[in-house]
Amino acid sequence: KKRLTISAMSKMKAEGKPISVLTAYDYPSAKLAEEAGIDVILVGDSLGNVVLGYDTTIPVTIDDMVYHSRAVARGAENTFIVADLPFMTYGVTIEHTLTNAARLMQQGHVQAVKLEGGAGIKEHVRALVQAGIPVMGHIGLTPQAVHQLSGYKVQGKLEDDARRLVEDALALQEAGAFAIVLELVTEQLASFISDQLTIPTIGIGAGRGCNGQVLVYHDVLQYSSPNVPKKFVKTYADIGTTIRDAIAQYVDEVKSGAFPDDSHVFQAEAGSIDSLYG
Ligand code: KIV
Ligand code: NA
Repeated sequence: KKRLTISAMSKMKAEGKPISVLTAYDYPSAKLAEEAGIDVILVGDSLGNVVLGYDTTIPVTIDDMVYHSRAVARGAENTFIVADLPFMTYGVTIEHTLTNAARLMQQGHVQAVKLEGGAGIKEHVRALVQAGIPVMGHIGLTPQAVHQLSGYKVQGKLEDDARRLVEDALALQEAGAFAIVLELVTEQLASFISDQLTIPTIGIGAGRGCNGQVLVYHDVLQYSSPNVPKKFVKTYADIGTTIRDAIAQYVDEVKSGAFPDDSHVFQAEAGSIDSLYG
């Protein structure tokens, strides 16, 4: 398998071939996603929720992202990997944005960074792209702004908000972003934005008109993800139940003595430890 390139992604949009994206946070999740044939892996700051157990993505640090990105990069050497810049690690000063993005590339070993926001951060996007750092945008529901947005809800339902999202998407494209995540926007608005742009859109809860789809690993696999049913998620396995049942069986067998059995133990040579008994 060869790692996908940005120009290949743009070609996929032009040819109407959907781009598959999944998050991953460590070596095994990345390895399995690559073996399954995923196009792009996102080391999302959603790791704050699904791996670190926080309520929001706000406490996630650049050190967390670097640490998890490195593990993902080791597990998926032939997959295009994007890592999130977490809350307040970009958008303040250009130098600060560049320093943090450089850490994800040089120490996290990813191929691109993603940041949340639209026209307001376009100068930061432009500076990253000029420095040679590929940027994926992210608009609509931007979880780092959950408190400002008053919760996790569908964005762009009012005309003014819809118009602002279109402008944000165009600003990101103009600043040099190679793709944009559209999160929790209506199918109609996401389709309109996708048609307006030359770069691919990757949707999550944004319907069928996007040029690709992204979901969170733990949601897809029901891997002990927070127990909130999400309309936009489709689960393809119930790994949580599989793991819990397997561990419960292990516990039972240790308690009952059923594990370990003959096949798991090492036998001494006949007579070789007799002298130990004196
Ligand atoms: O952090 C994340 O997993 C994301 C995707 C949901 C787009 O940003
Ligand atoms: Na994210």
